[in-house]
Amino acid sequence: MSATLFTGIGELATCEPTLGDESALGLLHDAAFIAEDGRIAWVGRASDAPAADERVEFGGRAVVPGFVDSHTHMVFAGERSAEFEARMAGEPYTGGGIMTTVAATRAASEGELRANAGRLLAEMHRSGTTTVEIKSGYGLDVATERRILEVANELTSETTFLGAHVVPAEYADDREGYLTLVTGDMLTACTPFARWVDVFCETGAFDEAESIRVLAAGIAAGLLPRVHGNQLGHGPGVQLAVEFDAASVDHCTYLSEEDLDALAYSDTVATLLPAAEFSTRSFYADARALLDARITVALATDCNPGSAFVTSMPLVIALAVREYHMTPAEALVAATRGGAAALRRTDIGRIAPGCSADFVVLDAPSHVHLAYRPGAPVVAQAWRAGTALIAPGHEEE
Ligand code: NIG
Ligand code: FE
Repeated sequence: MSATLFTGIGELATCEPTLGDESALGLLHDAAFIAEDGRIAWVGRASDAPAADERVEFGGRAVVPGFVDSHTHMVFAGERSAEFEARMAGEPYTGGGIMTTVAATRAASEGELRANAGRLLAEMHRSGTTTVEIKSGYGLDVATERRILEVANELTSETTFLGAHVVPAEYADDREGYLTLVTGDMLTACTPFARWVDVFCETGAFDEAESIRVLAAGIAAGLLPRVHGNQLGHGPGVQLAVEFDAASVDHCTYLSEEDLDALAYSDTVATLLPAAEFSTRSFYADARALLDARITVALATDCNPGSAFVTSMPLVIALAVREYHMTPAEALVAATRGGAAALRRTDIGRIAPGCSADFVVLDAPSHVHLAYRPGAPVVAQAWRAGTALIAPGHEEE
């Protein structure tokens, strides 16, 4: 058993209120921590640090937990820059481009999907993401959905079956046939590679009754529920997520008072995706209403080629601060501990004894720089389970 002391930390945001200054951020100054066998074994003042076998010095920089990106669709082929360009010229986002990505993804080999996703994952590591969730949903046939999840499963244990993304064109006149497939053979083929089941509960995708069937079938197959809801308009997504005790309902751009009430009395996390609102020129979710109601909020990228071709959690944090009026501390907690809650995980998202030693070293004296310096390479190092994913110089290891 080898213990490493990480020290010389000017500001340590533990995201554990019982550590440090008792704020949600659990701030400690002149701090240090010890990692042993990939887990945090001790956190405190550098001057109080016990002995360890090795020592890593951070020269007064700020350290925060590794980002937990709890919502991505990053296994796909092709790109949709023309759709983005048209949107910036005034076209609305409808989700209609999903089938463009489905066609490219069906045509791609497993090797191409693996290479594409690997490149995006490397970008994520460079911007400080240490845990990522990955959804299927660009296959919409049994073989491609399964292939996407096989690739996703190589990259993370947080994999989500989203066969119910939209009804594919070939089933346009047979919705019932597609629902039978998604809740039957496709689910059976995908379940071995998935932890979660998700449904795009939205006008133009799946209505309430259909979403209930999808979630119920997924749960019966042993998957845990999460929901895409209330992205393009008001709808039943949030209520449904709460009724199913979903870990998370994602987007929440349109929320009613009833939605807020339902979330406030639930364990369902509201996952906000400001990069999707940015890239679709949507208006922004009312994050303050959620926070004021003491609802747990997570921030994630939604990385996908249509609504948010974004891998950077620091960008998401900057958008949340600028556009959602979250404080830098609230945004950082939502991007770490909040993301962990959205995945029903307590072993990540904090720098606290017992947690995985997943952390980010900033080229900055304070976590505020994540929002204060948008676009700058503020993330200097990312470590997962006590091992460097990116080291100084931003080299992938
Ligand atoms: O989360 N909302 C549905 N799905 C994705 C976007 C899909 C696409 O446009 O390709 C999302 O925004
Ligand atoms: Fe999404």
